[in-house]
Amino acid sequence: MMFDASQVYQPAEDTFLLIRAALAEVKPKDSVIEIGTGSGAVAGAVQKVAPKTLGVDINPHAVLHAREVNGVDAIRSDLFSAVSGRFDLILFNAPYLPTLPEERIDDWLEYALDGGVSGRDVIERFLPEAVLHLADGGRILLLISSLTGLSETISLCEACGCSAEVCAEEEVEDAEMLYVLRIVPASVL
Ligand SMILES: C[S@@+](CC[C@H](N)C(=O)[O-])C[C@H]1O[C@@H](n2cnc3c(N)ncnc32)[C@H](O)[C@@H]1O
Repeated sequence: MMFDASQVYQPAEDTFLLIRAALAEVKPKDSVIEIGTGSGAVAGAVQKVAPKTLGVDINPHAVLHAREVNGVDAIRSDLFSAVSGRFDLILFNAPYLPTLPEERIDDWLEYALDGGVSGRDVIERFLPEAVLHLADGGRILLLISSLTGLSETISLCEACGCSAEVCAEEEVEDAEMLYVLRIVPASVL
């Protein structure tokens, strides 16, 4: 199958913020998974430090783009459904925009942006699965926007037995803030 780059989320401010946060966090021996790898830009940067890096995306065009353009070991999976094992570092630039049903567009890019009505639909599914795939001492970096709801997302982390703090942030257009949450099981605090 050929991939269609117009159906793949291309690197933007959120991508670059997550790359910076991930490079500040990752250690060479970490096993890393990036859920929603998209173009593979984040996993591609991280694997230069931590060679055991896997990219995952639900979008088949993204999987091929990540492999062929960024040299990422990438597989197709709905979140962790096709993934086994535990990871030291889990990364996710989630689809975080609140989206009404009538705003949906029927293409693969929709998966990059559509966070459901609250903006947190995919995050609500991701967090409990991610916790089960964390190795001892593992951490999660989750990128969200102020539109997603910072306190609401932190509450979701706490409901999964984790603590979450902002480890990177940046203002983008129209006073929207991007945040990277560093999430760890509360028991390791
Ligand atoms: C905001 S884009 C981020 C892409 C890339 N990581 C970056 O930072 O540029 C979100 C990505 O998550 C993927 N995605 C959305 N829902 C997913 C799911 N349930 N399982 C796996 N990937 C998913 C989308 O296809 C998209 O590539």
